Amino acid sequence: MKPDRVSTGNPALDDLLGGGLERRTITQIYGEPASGKSTLCLMATVASLRAGNSVVYIDTEGFSVERFTQVAGGHAAEFADRLYLFEPLDFAQQGTMLADAEGLLRKRDGAPVDLIVMDSATALYRTELDLGREALRRLSHHMIKLLGLAKKYDIPALITNQIYMDVERDRVAGLGGTALEHLSKAIIRLEKKDNGVRRAMLRKHRSRPEGLSFEFVITEDGIRAV
Ligand SMILES: Nc1ncnc2c1ncn2[C@@H]1O[C@H](COP(=O)(O)OP(=O)(O)OP(=O)(O)O)[C@@H](O)[C@H]1O
Ligand SMILES: [Mg+2]
Repeated sequence: MKPDRVSTGNPALDDLLGGGLERRTITQIYGEPASGKSTLCLMATVASLRAGNSVVYIDTEGFSVERFTQVAGGHAAEFADRLYLFEPLDFAQQGTMLADAEGLLRKRDGAPVDLIVMDSATALYRTELDLGREALRRLSHHMIKLLGLAKKYDIPALITNQIYMDVERDRVAGLGGTALEHLSKAIIRLEKKDNGVRRAMLRKHRSRPEGLSFEFVITEDGIRAV
């Protein structure tokens, strides 16, 4: 049997999540620009590639080969063969590519896919906001599809989310409303502090208290707890 958790590549982050990314669920990372969301996605991806698996990576913001190469630390060329990269240009393509990804998950030859990443899940949704509830409905549809893949293929899904200012509640919140909050079984908020230090705080988890956190800095190959 496969272990229940998949490592993020960082012990402090694995601890925060109760051992790593949980299979069959969506883990969401949200936070302000440059807080480290993509870094964590790449780090978890490289950890999975290093373990010999394949990864499906849906990148809506322009995949940085340079950053991937840094995090992969000299193994980028070898890992690239097992990194299935999708770069949707609009929200409709995001849905199509999610469906296309299933072909790779189903594949029985070669290294199995053990992680599916979507960075970010809401950037393209943001461009559809004038559609109001219909946009939200479509986003939920994408996330339910993603969750379905995670369940069917027994792998974790890792998504990132952007924040906005919720004026009514006077706080920043992740996009996608309560629908995305419900569908994500673990949620981590990243915050930028002084001197390049970031904090990762658990905002939602099924078996760990909310509010647990650790501080880290971003490094060449990922993050380092401080
Ligand atoms: N090699 C490196 N060493 C140290 N810090 C780095 C390195 N490469 C990038 N960074 C830092 O990482 C930060 C960007 O992190 P990342 O791209 O993970 O953020 P993000 O939350 O995904 O941002 P966005 O919302 O814009 O997508 C920047 O502050 C940048 O200075
Ligand atoms: Mg990013």
